[in-house]
Amino acid sequence: MHNAFKEKLLNGVKLKNAFIKTATYEGMHDQGIPNEKLLEHHVNMAKGNVALTTISYGAVSPDGRTFKDQMYIHDASVKKLSEIANAVHDVGGKISIQLTHCGYFSKNADVKRPLAPSRVFNEYGCLSGILFSKEMTKADMEKTSDDFANAARKLMDAGFDAVELHMGHGYLLSQFLSPWTNKRKDAYGGSIENRARYPLEVLRNMRKAVGRDFPILVKLNLEDGFEGGFNMEECKYVCRALEQAGCSAVVLSGGFTSRTPFYLMRGDIPLKGMIANGTSFAEKLTMALFGPWIIKKYAFEPNFFLEQAIEIRKAVKMPLVYIGGVDSRAGIQEIMDAGFDFIALGRPLIHDSNFLIKIERNEIEKSGCTRCNECVVEMDRGGVRCVLN
Ligand SMILES: Cc1cc2nc3c(=O)[nH]c(=O)nc-3n(C[C@H](O)[C@H](O)[C@H](O)COP(=O)(O)O)c2cc1C
Repeated sequence: MHNAFKEKLLNGVKLKNAFIKTATYEGMHDQGIPNEKLLEHHVNMAKGNVALTTISYGAVSPDGRTFKDQMYIHDASVKKLSEIANAVHDVGGKISIQLTHCGYFSKNADVKRPLAPSRVFNEYGCLSGILFSKEMTKADMEKTSDDFANAARKLMDAGFDAVELHMGHGYLLSQFLSPWTNKRKDAYGGSIENRARYPLEVLRNMRKAVGRDFPILVKLNLEDGFEGGFNMEECKYVCRALEQAGCSAVVLSGGFTSRTPFYLMRGDIPLKGMIANGTSFAEKLTMALFGPWIIKKYAFEPNFFLEQAIEIRKAVKMPLVYIGGVDSRAGIQEIMDAGFDFIALGRPLIHDSNFLIKIERNEIEKSGCTRCNECVVEMDRGGVRCVLN
C-alpha cells in the first residue's frame, strides 16, 4: 500500500513506517508514577508495528496537572518512563511523550488559582471549587517555559526518541493561541502574532534545551471548533512560525476540551459513564441534568479532519502528521495520497494494537472500533481500554 509502511525520517531520526500512536490519556499510574500497565500498553503498540508510540499527558510541573494524582515530570516518574522507553526499544519501536500544562483547565484541588493567559471562568473545574484562573505574570511565563524545556531535556536523557509539545485542545499554550481565552493587553495578546508569541518562545526554549537533532512534534488545532475561537487562517500562520522556531512536524487536530471535547474525537458521547465518573455529587447532577446540552455531539466520519488538514498541507511545506478518524486501508491511502508525511491513530489502536499488522497483511480492511467512546470513560477506571474486547 502506497509507501505508508516504508521507512520515514522525522528530523533525521529513522521511523520504520509512517504510523504514530497518538497520545490517548492512559490513566495507568499509581499516585502519578507510571506503572507496569503503561509499559505493557506501549510495548504492545511497538509490537503492533507502530513506528513511534506517544505516552500521553506528561505535565511539566505539579500545577500543570488537570487532576491532583496525574503524572508530572520529575525524577521518580522519569525513572519509570526510562524503563518504558527501554522496553519499547527492545521490541524495535520508538517512543515519544506529550508534554503539556493544563492552564486553567484544572480540577486539581492543590491549585487554588490555576495559571492561564488571562483571568477566565473555569467552566471545567468550577464544581470542584476552582472558579477562576490567574493571569500569568512574566515570571510565571518564564518559569513555565523553563519547566517545558527541562522536562524535554530530562526525557531525552532518559532515552526518549521525541517529545510532543501540546499546543492544542484548550490546554495552556492553546489558551494563549485562542482569542476566546487570551484577553491580554500586552505583547502576548491581541493579534495572532502576539497570541502565538509565548507558545513559540516555549518551543524555542525547548529546542535550545535538546539541541537541533532531537525531534519535537507540536500538536496544534486546525481550529477550536466554535465561533470566536482559534481559526484556520491563524493555524496557517502558526504552522509557518513553528517551522522557523524548530518544530520537526505538526500534528493537526482541533477542539477545545472545556468547550468542544468531542470535536476532536467525534462519535457517541458516553454520558452514563461520564456521570458515574463525576468527581462530586454536584458534577454528577449537573451532567445528568444538562449533559446533552453542555456536551455537543459531532457525527463520526472517516478522516474527519481531512478537508481542513489539506488546506494546511497546501499552505506549508513542513512535515505534517494527519490525525482524526483514520480507520481503514482506504483511509490510510487517502491520507498518503493527500501528501501527509505521517499518520497518527488513537482509537483503532486502543481497540486492537495489531491493527496495522492486520492491515499490512491484508487480513482486515477496517478497524472494528465503533466510536462508542467508552474508552474515554475507561481512562478513569484503571486504564484506557476498549470495552468491545
Ligand atoms: C481515550 C482517549 C484519550 C485521549 N487523550 C488525549 C490526550 O491525552 N492528549 C491528546 O492530545 N489527545 C487525546 N485524545 C485525542 C486523540 O489523541 C485523537 O486526537 C483523537 O482520538 C482522534 O484520533 P482517532 O480518530 O485516531 O482516535 C484522546 C482520545 C481518546 C479516545
